[in-house]
Formats: sequence, structure tokens, C-alpha cells
Amino acid sequence: MAQLWGGRFTKETDRLVYNFNASITFDRKLYRQDIRGSLAHVKMLAKQGILTQEEGSRIEEGLKGILEDVENGTLPITEEYEDIHSFVEANLIDRIGDVGKKLHTGRSRNDQVALDMKLYVRDEIGELDGLLKKLLTTIEKIMEENLHTYMPGFTHLQKAQPLTLAHHLGAYFEMFRRDRGRMHDIYERMNYCPLGAGALAGTTYPLDREYTASLLDFYGATRNSMDSVSDRDYVIELLAALSTVMMHLSRFCEEIIVWNTNEYRFVEIDDAYSTGSSIMPQKKNPDIAELVRGKTGRVYGALMSLLTTMKGLPLAYNKDMQEDKEPAFDAIDTVKGCLALFEGMLSTMKFRKDVMEASAKNGFTNATDAADYLVGKGVPFRDAHGIIGRLVLLCIEKNCSLDALPLEEYQKLCPVFEKDIYEAISMKTCVEKRMTLGAPGAEAMKPVLEEYRAYLEK
Ligand code: ARG
Repeated sequence: MAQLWGGRFTKETDRLVYNFNASITFDRKLYRQDIRGSLAHVKMLAKQGILTQEEGSRIEEGLKGILEDVENGTLPITEEYEDIHSFVEANLIDRIGDVGKKLHTGRSRNDQVALDMKLYVRDEIGELDGLLKKLLTTIEKIMEENLHTYMPGFTHLQKAQPLTLAHHLGAYFEMFRRDRGRMHDIYERMNYCPLGAGALAGTTYPLDREYTASLLDFYGATRNSMDSVSDRDYVIELLAALSTVMMHLSRFCEEIIVWNTNEYRFVEIDDAYSTGSSIMPQKKNPDIAELVRGKTGRVYGALMSLLTTMKGLPLAYNKDMQEDKEPAFDAIDTVKGCLALFEGMLSTMKFRKDVMEASAKNGFTNATDAADYLVGKGVPFRDAHGIIGRLVLLCIEKNCSLDALPLEEYQKLCPVFEKDIYEAISMKTCVEKRMTLGAPGAEAMKPVLEEYRAYLEK
């Protein structure tokens, strides 16, 4: 049992208590951030004359040695230490002797862990942003290739109006672009350094907090020491943003699972991203899409877990807050894995353009356009809606599409129909005439794609 305290105790900590209290099994993940924070702290202490330059350099060297040895595997982070902070400090003292005991001057584990967690979240936001950008790049590429790939658009999972694959995927581009925006917003709000807040009330040493903050690439130092050690808003914000990413991925997965069925056959997931069945030889299952959909639950769980942990905590630091780490680490790793795998699945997936187009043609997706045709000839929309409804019923009886219904049948119900109805309700017309900004017509989509490309190049 290696711990940083004990002077005022007369008994050893109970073994079970020690284990229950310890966080090394999971906060070892923070070793890089912990050392980086200590390096900045010690540099500031030396600049302020709180340590001599000589002491500062020896501590700095010791810390760099620890980092190197952990990275190259010669110094394993073992469970005999209470937490990552104790591990680093104990090793430092082993290495450089008593001068190592000066590292923690003007610092508490409370502001130290607040800093470590901020540095970690900040690093991960960068990685998550990169993965989101990669996914957006893949989506944009598929969009470029499918400006004229017709497919049915759905409401209530019932065929509604025809659109294009590019347009359908564009909806996901918007979602993941907003997700990136959320990453950016969180970064902007959280990027202030808590180090120097001490246990809760600052310190009497003449620290230069703004200097430490600048060494660690923060915009500045935080303004209230109690909030600095007890703020976990940025973790909650990240978990909320990650929950939204998972919700988007999950919806996309659900569509892919449906599109990949024998009944739809809109897409075929690549063999490399599918799995088989142990009993049914014919099976090729969309397990990756299902697992991504399934993992959404644990990310939502992490958000609920931390919100509940923080609820009702009095100021300032409370040990409850150690419970921020496992759910946050798990959620971040889960989302990173899901984004990478989903992107791989999407970029290797085959889209069956012929099947999509045929499906768009046989579900009366052009009924609105047929009604609009009558409106163009002076029939009030509500009457037109009724007339086309009756024509659809007739087609269902005759088992044919509106395109295949003879002109006499049209004219029996409404004499204003002429030969040009067929042109007016063709797939091409239905889609390409939708040219309002944000609509699926290729002419409307081209400037939008241009904007997407410019955004990705930024
Ligand atoms: N392991 C602790 C955490 O993650 C570090 C801070 C400990 N501070 C304390 N006063 N016990 O929150």
C-alpha cells in the first residue's frame, strides 16, 4: 500500500478500504497528462523562485525519465499505488531523492486531478473531431457519386416521395457536422486551467497561474478556486455530445440494417464487415451495425451516471467525483471505436442503385407530383389530392403504377389530364424539379456539396 498521506494516522488502512478507495486501476490512463501537468507546475515554481532552478531541472529530468520508461514498458504502472499521482510522485522520489518531495509544493491532488482530466478530455476531443471529420469526408464522397441515384424517401417507414441517395446521406452529413460543432463549443468553454486552485482555496505561495496555463496551451487560468476543483461540467457536456453522436450513428445503423435485408436489398455490406451464423450457412449478418446501435446504451448510461454522481454534491471536492473517470473513459473509447468501424463499413458498402430506383418507382412516390400537375392546370389542391387518391386506389386494384395507367383512366376521373402527365410524374422530373435550397434536385444540391467540400478543406 503506497500512499501520499498517513502522518496523522495511528493505524494502517484496512485492506478492503484501501482497495475500495484506490483508483490506479483506471486512472493509470492519465499518466501522460499527469506528468505533463507536473512539468508545467515545476517550471512555474522555479520561475517564481519557489524552487531553485537546479531543483526545478532535476525534477523535470526525473519526470521525463518516468514518462519515457512508462512508454517503453520498463516501468509498469502497478496496483501497489493508490492512484496515478502517487505512482508518479513515489517514482520521482525513488529516482532523484528528497528533492522529488518538493514537486507537490503549492498543489493538491484536487487541482491536479482536475487538470489531468481536463487535459485528457481536451486531447480526446481532438481525436473525436478527427474521426468525425473522416466520416464526413466519406459521406461527402458517396454523395458526390450519387447525385442522380434515385431512391424512395420515407415517412413512417412508408414510401413518401422520391429523392436521391446523395440527399439522404446529406441528412447525416448535417448531423455529424453539428456533432463536430459541439466538440468545438465544449473545447472553447472548458479550455481554462484549474491548476493553482489547491485543495479548494488557492495557496499562499506566489504561484503564476496564468504562466502555468499558457505552458499547457490553455486560454487562461480559471477564476474561482472552489469551482476549479469541483467542476466536471465539461465531462458531462462531452458525454452529452457523445450520446448525440451515438444517437446519430444508431439511426444510420438502423437504416443500413433495414436496407441490407433481403426485402430491401438497397445495400450490401462488405464481407469484411459482416459475420456468419454458427448454424445457418446462408447467413451474412450486419453485426457491426447492430453492435454500434447497441453500444449507444452504454454511452447514454455514462451520461446518466455522471449527472447522478454530481447531483447534490456540496462544494468543493468530494471523493464521489473520482467516479467521473470510468464512465468517461469507457464512453470515449466506445465512441472512437464505433466511429472508426462505422466509417469502414460505410466506405466499403455497395449501394444497389437499380434496386433503389425500382423501389422508388413502385410505391406511388410520385403521387404528390401528380396532384401538383392538376394544381398547375387550375384544380384546387384539395380536389387534386382527392382525385389522385382515387387513381392510386384504382392502380392498386389493377396492380400497376401511376406511370402505367392508361390516359383514358386518368381522363375518366378528371378531364384536364393530358399526355404530358407521364412526363410530369417521371422519376427524373419528380426529383430534379425539387430545386428549393436543401431539396434533392441535383441543381439544388450542387452548391450545398460545394459548401461541404469547402468546410472539409478548412
Ligand atoms: N483519485 C482522485 C480522483 O480521481 C484524486 C483526487 C484525490 N483527492 C483527495 N482529496 N482524495 O478524484
